[in-house]
Amino acid sequence: MARAAGEQSVSIRLVVNERPHVIDVDAGETLLGTLRERLALVGPKEACCEGECGACTVLADGSPVASCIAASGSMDGRTIRTVEGLAGSGELTQLQQAFVSHAAVQCGYCTPGVLMVLTALLDDVPEPSEADIRRSLAGNICRCTGYQQIVDAALDAARAVSP
Ligand code: FES
Ligand code: FES
Repeated sequence: MARAAGEQSVSIRLVVNERPHVIDVDAGETLLGTLRERLALVGPKEACCEGECGACTVLADGSPVASCIAASGSMDGRTIRTVEGLAGSGELTQLQQAFVSHAAVQCGYCTPGVLMVLTALLDDVPEPSEADIRRSLAGNICRCTGYQQIVDAALDAARAVSP
């Protein structure tokens, strides 16, 4: 990442998808830029860059964060999970499998952010209602699916993991 003359950098520690990193980031650098350009994690997508669409969503200490407006310098010591970390063991999660079976992925641009938001929801609320799911998706724009397939996939995934 090119640095303008006089621009400061700061060293931060991040654990990303269970791997520890020490990274020099520029002042004003976003978490999205760090993930995509320094760590080659291009699952989180760049779209509005204003915190409005959810395409860049990752989890920071388990909570969804719009990485396009999160300063990397403020992330020191945090644990980050991106969509690449979901199937880290090589197997799709229940939620990812449900997305495939419900055709909840169409162009796929929103999918990494939507998966992270729903992963956080299912971690917190194992048996969410349809209203819970729709509420959690309030910050994620999908122009393809009309959301119903996404909601159905999340309900199925919750059923599959609930006792
Ligand atoms: S790219 Fe981050 S919210 Fe749209
Ligand atoms: S699948 Fe295309 S924007 Fe959601």
